[in-house]
This record gives sequence, C-alpha cells and structure tokens, in this order.
Amino acid sequence: MIEFSLTNEQELIQKISREFSQEHLLPGVIERDEKAIFPIEQVKIMGELGFMGMMVPEKWGGSQLDTLSYVIAIEEIAAVELATSTVMSVNNSLVCQLFMDYGTKEQKEKYLKPLAYGKKLGAYSLSEPQSGSDASNMKTYAKKEGNYYIINGTKNWVTNGINSDIVIMFCMTKKDIGYKGVTAFVIEKDTPGLTVGRKEDKLGIRATDTCELYFENCKIPHKNRIGEEGQGFKIAMKVLGGGRIGIAAQAVGLSRAALDASVSFAKERKQFGQTIGEFGAIQNKLANMAVEVDAARLLVWRAAKLKDQGKDYLRESSMAKLYASSTAMKCATDCVQIHGGYGYMREYGVERLMRDAKITQIYEGTSEIQQLVIGRDLLK
Ligand code: CAA
Repeated sequence: MIEFSLTNEQELIQKISREFSQEHLLPGVIERDEKAIFPIEQVKIMGELGFMGMMVPEKWGGSQLDTLSYVIAIEEIAAVELATSTVMSVNNSLVCQLFMDYGTKEQKEKYLKPLAYGKKLGAYSLSEPQSGSDASNMKTYAKKEGNYYIINGTKNWVTNGINSDIVIMFCMTKKDIGYKGVTAFVIEKDTPGLTVGRKEDKLGIRATDTCELYFENCKIPHKNRIGEEGQGFKIAMKVLGGGRIGIAAQAVGLSRAALDASVSFAKERKQFGQTIGEFGAIQNKLANMAVEVDAARLLVWRAAKLKDQGKDYLRESSMAKLYASSTAMKCATDCVQIHGGYGYMREYGVERLMRDAKITQIYEGTSEIQQLVIGRDLLK
C-alpha cells in the first residue's frame, strides 16, 4: 500500500532539511563546486541534526526514522547541493546500513555509533581499476596470518575516501573462485599500510572527495572482518540495493531544482516582447519535466516504502534509480537549454546541475547495470 500523504514527522524532516539546505548549503554552493571544497562544516551540522544516521536505531546513535523520511531529506539536500547529499547518502545507506545489518555488537558500538552521531564519516570501497560494473572481479587480496589479515591492492573511486575516518572495504580472501572469494572488512584510515591517493578532478559533484586507496601489507585484526569469509559480495549487493534508493532520491532533488529554476526563468526572461514561458516550446519542456519529476519521486517513495515494510525491493530500487537518474540528466539539460546563454555561464549555477546529474547514472551501479538487475528479476 502506498500512502501519498506524509506523516507529521516526515513533514517536519522535510521542513528541517529544506531550511538547512537554504541556510547552510546555498550560500557557498558555487564556490565549493569551483574550488572542489569538501563541505566539512555542513556535514558537521548534519550530524548534529541527526542526518548522518537517519535510519539507525536510537540505541546505536541514530535518528531511528524510516527510509521514506531519509529519501525526503536526501531530496531536499540534493535540490541545493548534490555533492553534500552524496556524502550523506554514502554514510547513511551504505556504511551505517551495512553495520546495522551485518555488524557485530562490538562493531556497532565502536563504528556505527560515532558514524550515526556524525562524529565520524564512513566510505564504501568496492571498485578497483579493472572492476567497476563487474564488481566481483577484484584483485585486492587479504591473506590470513594468525589473528590478522594482510591486505595488498588498490581500490578506486572511493567517495569520502579522503575525509572519512573508516572505510568499508571489499576484497578477496580466496583467489580464483569469483564472487565466493569476496569478504567485507572495516578499515580504520590511520592503519599503517593504507595510503590515501590524490583527490580526483571530476566533472561534477566536485565538492565530494573521490580518491584511490593503496594497501601495502596493511595489517588488520580478524575482528575487523564483517560477516563471514566469502559473504562479502552478497553483503555488498544487498546494501547497494538500499543505497540505490538514496541515489534515486538525490536525482529527484536535482531534477526538481532544474524544474524550479526553469519555471522562474521562464516567467522572467523576455524575448520577442513576451516572457519565454508564453512560448509553447518552453511550456512543453516544463510540462515534461514536471511529469517526470513526479513520476521519479513516486518510484523512489515506492521503493522506500517496500524497504520499510520489510518486503523485496531490489527491482523497485533499480527502477527508481534508472528512471530518476535519467530524469535528472534530461531536466538538467533542458534547464540549461531554457536558460540559453545564461545557462552556460557558471555564475547562474544551472550548468552545475547538468554536470552533477551525470554521476547519478554512473555510481552505485550504472544505468546499464540497473537494466540488467531489472531484466534478470523479470525473467527469473
Ligand atoms: N542481494 C543478495 N544477493 C545478490 C544480489 C543482491 N542484490 N545480487 C546478486 N546476488 C547474489 C546472487 O544471487 C549470486 O548468488 P548465488 O550464486 O548464491 O545465487 C551471487 O550474488 C552472484 O550474483 P550474480 O551472478 O548476479 O553476479 P554478477 O557478477 O553477474 O553481478 C551485478 C551482478 C548486478 C552486475 C553486480 O556485479 C553489480 O551490481 N554491479 C555494479 C556494482 C556497483 O553498483 N558498483 C558501485 C560501486 S559503490 C559506489 O558507487 C558507492 C559510491 O561511492 C557512491
């Protein structure tokens, strides 16, 4: 059952996240993008507001809210700055969720609590130079030696890789057996043998930090393993299924921002003696954007609701991400088109939407991977 009305609590979350975005994100958003500045202060405030562990139970330091509240907050934050919503999304729906579902009591106490309080920041490291979509094709290897694992290898495209305190890292503990050899670990960033690479120079979400991580005889105790040896791939996939709902919500936020900016501009900009909004060509674009933003949001809310109800949501989460990310790209491109020459100038902030939108079709599984997940589910 899908309820279209929000509870008082969900409306409050929407209000708080909207106010936070206007007050703390909007003022520096263009500068953070231009200079690739990580939103340290903003993330700290988000921690104080309870936004860094929204779905984590109170006893583990979180806000104990449902997934719908989480996607509502992500939408509001992404509508102003996609980059900050990415930092939030990785911490919430990948790192905290993984500890909630698979962490031991000791791991929850030591890692989940500070992550959920916003005192520490987490990263999620799955990809390697040769393995992106083909996620289990990893070379990074953890060799068991007594009570320790010795890790060697390179991970890449690690979001929050620089500013995080801990990293959830997936690597092989058995070679040549494919996904059955993948194991999940929690790595503290100051562990000897772990070196953080340079900050990548990116097309969009430039305020996030993305980097490589190099493991050279990095020694970690057994108690840093999450789940059993060989369970890592399924853990990674299960958690990504939830993470993709968050990415879809980000895409909805960005699409909405593109629509709002387009409507405002269409009402003000005059050409040929009338506002451009009076031209059918512009109205058609606005109408299509509005329909797609609402359709994308409904897909996101459905996936969130299914997750909250404890039902299967794998297909629905991929459907939401596939559709919402494509909507974000289309809305952002149309927004720039409607703004014409102004849209192409950095100062107006809408070209950033177009650059930022692209990543939603790539990370946490490309659009092609979402199609694969949906297709396989339909045919099973
Ligand atoms: N939940 C639980 N188990 C799952 C699962 C899921 N969602 N998906 C697959 N599995 C299981 C399968 O059932 C299978 O187990 P059995 O043999 O016991 O049945 C096993 O895992 C292997 O599954 P597949 O044969 O389907 O594996 P595959 O190699 O064909 O890969 C894939 C499937 C969907 C393509 C997967 O590799 C994938 O999702 N790739 C994309 C990776 C990705 O999203 N990367 C994002 C990086 S993280 C990131 O971007 C974070 C960030 O920084 C913002």
